[in-house]
Amino acid sequence: MTTTAVAAPPYAYHNGAFVEAGAVRLPLSTQALHYGTGVFEGIRAYAQEGASGPAVFRLREHLERLERSAATLRLQLPCDVDGLTEIVLDLLRRNGSGGDTYIRPLAYKLALEPGTPFGVKLSGVSGQFTVTTVKMGSYVPSEGLRCKVSTVRRVPSVSIPSAAKVTGTYVNNALAVEEAHADGCDDALMLGLDGNLTEASTSNVFVVGRDGSVATPPVTADILPGITRASAIELLAREFGITVEERPVAVEELAQAQEVFTTGTGVEICAVTSIDHREVGTGRAGAVTSRLRDVYDEVVRGRRPAYASWLTPVRSA
Ligand SMILES: Cc1ncc(COP(=O)(O)O)c(C=O)c1O
Repeated sequence: MTTTAVAAPPYAYHNGAFVEAGAVRLPLSTQALHYGTGVFEGIRAYAQEGASGPAVFRLREHLERLERSAATLRLQLPCDVDGLTEIVLDLLRRNGSGGDTYIRPLAYKLALEPGTPFGVKLSGVSGQFTVTTVKMGSYVPSEGLRCKVSTVRRVPSVSIPSAAKVTGTYVNNALAVEEAHADGCDDALMLGLDGNLTEASTSNVFVVGRDGSVATPPVTADILPGITRASAIELLAREFGITVEERPVAVEELAQAQEVFTTGTGVEICAVTSIDHREVGTGRAGAVTSRLRDVYDEVVRGRRPAYASWLTPVRSA
């Protein structure tokens, strides 16, 4: 996968203030750098139809997940979801939010508080909060993803809660992606310790059977409960009358599938066109994937008034 991110914008929100992004410095002793003790979000703002300016897709849901992730690591955020919303919108305005933008809030452990002995821990360690943005359009190949079923198993929730978007957990995902790339693929499909499908490296996975049924692993299957996943489930039901089965998905089902697609803030809705070098269905995006992708595009760009509540306008906040 190649990214199409362009010039970095000038401001970040860092440690309680809007500052020049390039001027931010972190101490080498930053705890999260050593132990992976940070949590983050990936959020997108989209240019909207007409002259209304951009809007952020499902901002509240992302910030609520950030709150839950932060609580998991005993990280204190600077304010509640309403306050975080204002910070994100203010930053977008300062950075000239025209065009599509990726927003990255990051809360992380900073330093041992006085009296806290050296060692890896969560309590007695101060936290810090930063938000950055980068201009970013769609970055997955338009022809779809070639995936590999990874030998790297997804870290189970009993080890690191998968519902929390923890920075350190992504070593797991990076190892899987590295293996996929070495095998000539774009992304990894990761299995859980039970051998069932969990998710891709930065997205959730849906499988369309030859009978037209659509299934995705349940939130109990060591997945990150994706906000795009929830949106896709709702769109499939409301727009196409398809009830997605949230159930364990056996790896064997991938070989039988008519379509496989992934959902995520970054990848949006993306067809998986081959798995382990074998074509999925026709080897192109199938009907369900294509129709869902089209609706999703319309929703995020404000062309579907029924979903206006999923969009937070940047300018009129
Ligand atoms: C591991 C993982 N799974 C799933 C997703 C999809 O989540 P969302 O749709 O909330 O972006 C992401 C991206 O955030 C991810 O990193």
